[in-house]
Amino acid sequence: MGAGIIGIGRYVPEKVLPNFDLEKMMDTSDEWIRTRTGIEERRIAPDDIDTSDMAYFAAERALHDAGIEAKDIDLILVATVTPDRSFPSVACMLQERLGAVNAAAMDLSAACAGFMYGMVTAAQFIDTGVYKYILVVGADKLSKITDWTDRNTAVLFGDGAGAVVMGPVSPGRGILSFELGADGTGGKHLYKDEYIVMNGREVFKFAVRQMGESSVRVLEKAGLTKDDVDFLIPHQANIRIVEAARQRLELPEEKISTTIRRYGNTSAASIPISLVEELEAGKIHDDDLIIMVGFGGGLTWGAIALRWGR
Ligand code: UT7
Repeated sequence: MGAGIIGIGRYVPEKVLPNFDLEKMMDTSDEWIRTRTGIEERRIAPDDIDTSDMAYFAAERALHDAGIEAKDIDLILVATVTPDRSFPSVACMLQERLGAVNAAAMDLSAACAGFMYGMVTAAQFIDTGVYKYILVVGADKLSKITDWTDRNTAVLFGDGAGAVVMGPVSPGRGILSFELGADGTGGKHLYKDEYIVMNGREVFKFAVRQMGESSVRVLEKAGLTKDDVDFLIPHQANIRIVEAARQRLELPEEKISTTIRRYGNTSAASIPISLVEELEAGKIHDDDLIIMVGFGGGLTWGAIALRWGR
């Protein structure tokens, strides 16, 4: 039995911040943001909801969906670059709050590609039979490290969390292949000083190339082709990057997630949030082949080919 997803959950804050409100805060326009990024609105967490709170809400739903109890979890992995504090980890905070008394817990830092790193790490423990159930969460509150006077970055990001419970699934289902990668020489293009600093054009070029190439490579590793893909869930950074990935895989528009319109770039949370939304919309079915692919500061990237179903 391979490692797959057996439960899902997501959380986004209630407060909606539409482009029109950003127009009042900085020199930008709804028209520019829509046409250059695809974003229409994003969610912003209030002061009293931090990354661990969002992670907890998403995790609780994923556990419920999986039909397992918190004490059954062997390991908690939280992908985040905006932990409540540097330690204890968000994963340890979750362990306490969920009552996951038997779980080891750690955070993982790979920026927007963090959820891919988390899923692949979890799969190794499940494949070897060491652990059975692993909670993987992608959660970020980028609003707290956003410079709200910098129009180059402030219009892009939003807050949220997504979670999956991973465990053994039926033969033929689950993770079929993966790719993880990093290029530290590109770290200067996207980093956190006091706030997020980004060279948008450089990140854009990297993202377009990497998302397409990684998607194709995981297909090849799994012995599959573009024709086999049923659904693509790319990291939601910019609709033009998402669109480039879609074209590279020659997929029709209905086979790709574009939740960026409503949530902006939620960093490590974007892929699991999109997964939950597409499942709830009835767009993903048992035995569908899904490609998940992300990139982020580091620079980092990761892709997974997964056959859906328990
Ligand atoms: O998870 C990873 C995180 N980051 C990314 O994935 C970012 C990848 N990069 C991008 O998505 C795009 O590069 C951006 C959306 C950040 C920028 O789009 P672009 O098409 O690359 O625009 P640009 O940086 O080339 O800027 C074009 C113009 C500039 O004005 P001038 O120099 O031509 O007069 C900018 O100053 O647009 C201006 N501009 C804005 N105008 C209105 C930049 N940001 C804004 C803004 N509102 N918010």
